[in-house]
Amino acid sequence: MAVSGSAKMRIRLPAETVARSYRDVVYQELKDGGVKRLLEIEPGPLPPAQIIERTGVMHDTEAEVAEQRRTFWVSGYYHLREILDATRRCGLDLNNLDAVFELGCGAARVIRHFRAMPEVRLIASDIGATSIRWCQANIPGVEFHVNQPTPPLEFAEDESFDVAIAMSVFTHIPLNWQSLWLHEISRILRRGGFLVATVAGEHHRRLQLRGKPLECFRRHGHVTLSPRDPGVSVSTRLTNTWDVFQTKGELYKVFGDVFKILSHLEDQHGLDTLVLQKPR
Ligand SMILES: C[S@@+](CC[C@H](N)C(=O)[O-])C[C@H]1O[C@@H](n2cnc3c(N)ncnc32)[C@H](O)[C@@H]1O
Repeated sequence: MAVSGSAKMRIRLPAETVARSYRDVVYQELKDGGVKRLLEIEPGPLPPAQIIERTGVMHDTEAEVAEQRRTFWVSGYYHLREILDATRRCGLDLNNLDAVFELGCGAARVIRHFRAMPEVRLIASDIGATSIRWCQANIPGVEFHVNQPTPPLEFAEDESFDVAIAMSVFTHIPLNWQSLWLHEISRILRRGGFLVATVAGEHHRRLQLRGKPLECFRRHGHVTLSPRDPGVSVSTRLTNTWDVFQTKGELYKVFGDVFKILSHLEDQHGLDTLVLQKPR
């Protein structure tokens, strides 16, 4: 039988196979960064559907949960690569990396992959006790804590981390608390330390804001969606938090007040990434 030239064949590789090739890319990045001792670690188990729903689902469909589980490892490796790439370009020396902290770690989608660097101390926290209990039971090699919605991080000493990450977390912290969290992260970072944080940019504004919230965003330069507002993400509804949107001007005012803004990568298909540095 002849096959039409325009017919497209979609080949779906198993999630593990795709994850393995992403892992190879990350390991190469680490080697290029001069990391002396590298462990070939397994990525660890996938979280159950209820935890995926609470930490990374935009729309209310079972298919989206299934897809998020499929891409869980890959997206974790992808973010690790992005973090390494962005911070190395801003001057981070991986050989001097001693301790990394993740705020709002969810199911340890990202920090679990840092375990490839066995010399680095890894600490992570989240307001979600269910996610943290799951992480403590399933992800060895990282110290996990539950934190309160506002600072302090009682388990973290002053100037004890080189890098902090907050992936899709400031997107859920209302504006009046963002500054508190930025000061707290600055407290626990060493001088010259980096914070990598993702924030909602143009893509999420187009995806989520309509009608009154959009008007409000345009008028005031920021808007916060509450769990019952139209357009709010499923994860935000389930965790009873907020979806926060702010213009670049607002973003630079709040983040730039505490940190030096080294780079802002705008993403047309996902969240924007900020690389920030605590002054030396
Ligand atoms: C969209 S999920 C992202 C989870 C994880 N960072 C990831 O990328 O897979 C947002 C996470 O931030 C957590 N969160 C929200 N506000 C927080 C706060 N003030 N402190 C710590 N965690 C917070 C939520 O509980 C949730 O696990």
